Amino acid sequence: LSVDASPQNAQVIPGNMFGIFFEEINHAGAGGLWAELVSNRGFEAGGPNTPSNIDPWLIIGDESNIIVATDRSSCFAGNPIALRMEVHCETTGTNACPSGGVGIYNPGYWGMNIERRKVYRATMYIKSSESVELTVSLTSSDGLQNLASHTITGDKEDFVEWTKVELDLESIGRNTNSRLQLTTTKSGIIWFDQVSLMPSDTYMGHGFRKDLAFMLANLKPRFLKFPGGNYVMGNYLVNAFRWSETVGPWEERPGHFNDAWAYWTDDGLGFFEFLQLAEDLGACPVWVVNDGASLNEEVPTATIAAFVKDVVNGIEFARGDPQTAWGSVRAAMGHPEPFQLYYVSIGNQECSKYYYKDNYMKFYSAIKASYPDITIISSCDRSAISPVNPADLYDVHVYTSSGDMFSRSRMFDNTVRSGPKAIVSEYAVTGNDAGRGTLIAALAEAAFLIGLERNSDVVEMASCAPLFVNDNDRRWNPDAIVFNSWQHYGCPNYWMLHFFKDSSGAALHPSTIQLSNYDQLVTSAITWNNSQDGNTYLKIKVVNFGSKAVNLNISVTGLETDIQTFGSIKTVLTSGWLRDENSFQQPDKVVPAASPITNAGKQMGVVLDSYSLTSFDLLL
Ligand code: AHR
Repeated sequence: LSVDASPQNAQVIPGNMFGIFFEEINHAGAGGLWAELVSNRGFEAGGPNTPSNIDPWLIIGDESNIIVATDRSSCFAGNPIALRMEVHCETTGTNACPSGGVGIYNPGYWGMNIERRKVYRATMYIKSSESVELTVSLTSSDGLQNLASHTITGDKEDFVEWTKVELDLESIGRNTNSRLQLTTTKSGIIWFDQVSLMPSDTYMGHGFRKDLAFMLANLKPRFLKFPGGNYVMGNYLVNAFRWSETVGPWEERPGHFNDAWAYWTDDGLGFFEFLQLAEDLGACPVWVVNDGASLNEEVPTATIAAFVKDVVNGIEFARGDPQTAWGSVRAAMGHPEPFQLYYVSIGNQECSKYYYKDNYMKFYSAIKASYPDITIISSCDRSAISPVNPADLYDVHVYTSSGDMFSRSRMFDNTVRSGPKAIVSEYAVTGNDAGRGTLIAALAEAAFLIGLERNSDVVEMASCAPLFVNDNDRRWNPDAIVFNSWQHYGCPNYWMLHFFKDSSGAALHPSTIQLSNYDQLVTSAITWNNSQDGNTYLKIKVVNFGSKAVNLNISVTGLETDIQTFGSIKTVLTSGWLRDENSFQQPDKVVPAASPITNAGKQMGVVLDSYSLTSFDLLL
């Protein structure tokens, strides 16, 4: 392997090359990254017609002592449903309530993870024309273990109008399968709405589940593409992600049915929160807009104007001055400074739809007229882009087998070097090879990414898909990060991404491999400056996609300095079997292993394991 590390032959990899794509799929956000513990907090998931299904809420008590139903008495116009709880039993006497009282409980998303000595903020709106004695508690899933509780009391007049109640519950114990209970031993009627339970310690205090957000931050993503995927479109437009319904006070958001992935979301994780997450991660937001198409429908160009206006309004929300109509909404949410939104993707992957190109031009012209600095991404491939159908970037999605993904390391080798560049915003090995995240899938994807690095003069950005899966609702396999209420682990392809986290903005050097009768190696070489230790590293990555271990002589030329042995590290991602996966039981089965390179130098002999990704990080 020859590496020409001379600065004059280097090419700079785009600064935003490697990022992440977050889609609301597999309960990635609701019941995942968004730390809200109550599912269906506004009782809207059952739809606007009453009586409605209150799932996953359940009742404590029976028909003899409690009747629960939804009605339309909410104080929030955008989400009219509230819960009416009519209690027929009393604290004492012949009509005494069962011990512990009667009421309702919410098990969250397959159980709430309640941790010892941690504080949880419970918020709810209640209304009653009688005196109230309501116990808010955190308990085990059977209600027997009490972790924290607080009793709200009030006189007849106190809750006659809808009243917001907020209280902090500190847990005395730990239970990963807990629930929130609202119980009473007093007869009467109480209405509930917008019942929320948030842990007090979220990532940067912005509502993101800490352990999952750290998994993202550790990738050093340069961009965050959101919120989908098919989620943006919906199967039907009525269920598409509508950014303006997801901003403002959380209590006032209607929520919506994510019909692409078949679950309700309360939209706690809305447009603002996505922009905030990008900012917190130091990543550029890439907003995928609904362009008037769902998976099954399409708005004709003659009537697309309202959709165009809606997107321009969305950009104003993100970037507009606080004096503007939508900028003021953002400012009222606590972010008067504009978000750094410079990328907008027109639709998801609907280039083949009849009206796409004409509709696209309406979006393109309107956005450029108001925001000429926005990079506009087309869903069409390069061949469809021309001066009359312009785009700054074109979106590429690749889902394929591991063998094909490996061979796609050359996908862009013959691309014309002028014109718009690609954003490969969704790629993954899928099917049998991929399982729920195998080593072989990760290696094939690594080879593909190395190919993108090598072609980063025509590829601007890349992100894998999907990012997250809640193990209780696998709508798509594989995914990079797996979690449940309290655990998480990275799949091999998550760890593979760590090999690329220093590449964005680095210098790419020519590297060539000479091997006879073996075409299973793919390689790249970069130099990058580590701002943490102030050092410069030459990083050589090699994927060995074959079943043979390979002895390789590495020869580095063109360096102005020596390679330091002390401080040079080899990192290998491999495992005993190419279909090995990580799991909750064995989260570290396939993870990178680092060791010193004792013979680091401009000439070095190395051994590449079969089915492996190796990085040689040489200290200069
Ligand atoms: O990543 C899963 C899905 O694959 C996305 O929602 C869609 O864009 C693609 O088809």
